[in-house]
Amino acid sequence: MPRGKAKSTMDVTELLHQDHMKVSELFFQFSKAEDESEKEDLVKQILTELHVHAKVEEEVVYPTVEDEAEEGEELVGEANVEHKMIKYLMAELSQMSGDDEELDAKVTVLCELVKHHVREEEKEMFKKLRESGADLEDLAEQAQERKEELMAEPLPAMSATLEIGEAEEVEEAEQLKALDTKRAPAKKGAAKKKSA
Ligand SMILES: [Fe+2]
Ligand SMILES: [Fe+2]
Repeated sequence: MPRGKAKSTMDVTELLHQDHMKVSELFFQFSKAEDESEKEDLVKQILTELHVHAKVEEEVVYPTVEDEAEEGEELVGEANVEHKMIKYLMAELSQMSGDDEELDAKVTVLCELVKHHVREEEKEMFKKLRESGADLEDLAEQAQERKEELMAEPLPAMSATLEIGEAEEVEEAEQLKALDTKRAPAKKGAAKKKSA
């Protein structure tokens, strides 16, 4: 569908890069902060930025990466696991106050996770997305729209449940099921191989 006239001149990878820069700056400010209330305020800003950014990526950007970019499914699979780890720490941080003795350590680890994740997105995923020929300006518009909606909402309550591996476990269970159903009839005849 032509979204037409109001087309953004920015592509979606630039938009996401700006978010990455903003969060990196907030982490830097946190590293310099001494005052408890300033730290608390910065953590809130970091959580808000990361929450909105991750949601925009998951809802608007990653599906296109999966469908259009080379190795898109693997890249998104990894990115989603990293998002889960990041969200786990975000949830823990959302329960902490500025004087919590673990606050600095948790923010430092979160910063490291985010840095690693951002590096992978920018060096691999975005590169492959740009090479895919997908309409990245249209995607930027959709991402910007969604971002504005999410920014207007209050930060939702986060629960720290570690779900890493859940997706893989489901997949594994499905593969096992598929194997089981294959095995039974396989006794009667030669297993047919699908030519994809
Ligand atoms: Fe991400
Ligand atoms: Fe990102």
